[in-house]
Amino acid sequence: MKILKTPDYYHMSRVAANILSAQVIMKPDCVLGLATGSTPIGAYEQLCRWYEKGDIDFSQVKSVNLDEYRGLSPDNSQSYRYFMEKHLFSHINIKPENTHIPNGLEPDSEKACLQYNQIIHELGGIDLQLLGLGHNGHIGFNEPGAAFEKETHCVNLTAATIAANSRFFASSGEVPTQAYTMGIKAIMQARKILMIVSGADKAQIVKDAFFGPITPKVPASVLQLHNDVTLVGDEEALALIPDNAF
Ligand code: F6R
Repeated sequence: MKILKTPDYYHMSRVAANILSAQVIMKPDCVLGLATGSTPIGAYEQLCRWYEKGDIDFSQVKSVNLDEYRGLSPDNSQSYRYFMEKHLFSHINIKPENTHIPNGLEPDSEKACLQYNQIIHELGGIDLQLLGLGHNGHIGFNEPGAAFEKETHCVNLTAATIAANSRFFASSGEVPTQAYTMGIKAIMQARKILMIVSGADKAQIVKDAFFGPITPKVPASVLQLHNDVTLVGDEEALALIPDNAF
């Protein structure tokens, strides 16, 4: 594993964008695995700026996102499709038909998951998977206890996640209770993994995930078994990493 420490969120975002950009330059028709959440926003902003300057061309790039809420339409401002359009896709020349996110509107969860697995397989797998890290060690919506061998599946959101999300919705009845997520198996099959972490509140889980035991209790700990992981974090998030790890 390679660990890159940056002074702050801005520089973490620039390094992450550089790695994503290098992937696109080296393989213009690559498959990028993308994430939502607060951590990647800065990297996406940077990629948009480089695109505007003419430094990157996304015309042949394909993307697969980690997850989507079950039941939310693409134009719902809380859906992950909406997030990706807002922060990246609508600003660059990626072809809409080349961007893939689990279909939140497919009521048949088995069908939704099979379709998504098929998309990933038909694309030939993921060249570079971008990941954020949940405070409990989750990656995608693979929460503690998730089986390492799963592909795309439907998860029941925990009461804590539903409660945390309720602030974004007009009423608690509108908060999704389930999500479709790429499984750990699919994430582990990505040829390269890029995890980004920022802030002091991530320091303990970063240490647990990369320097603790490999256990489903900390889903991200499975990444210790992947042979091409780059962890990019700011000083606060990497504060508990032993000095000899760099
Ligand atoms: C996002 C995702 C989540 C986030 C994680 C960290 O698609 O699947 O696993 O990466 O919850 O979120 P932030 O970046 O908001 O701390």
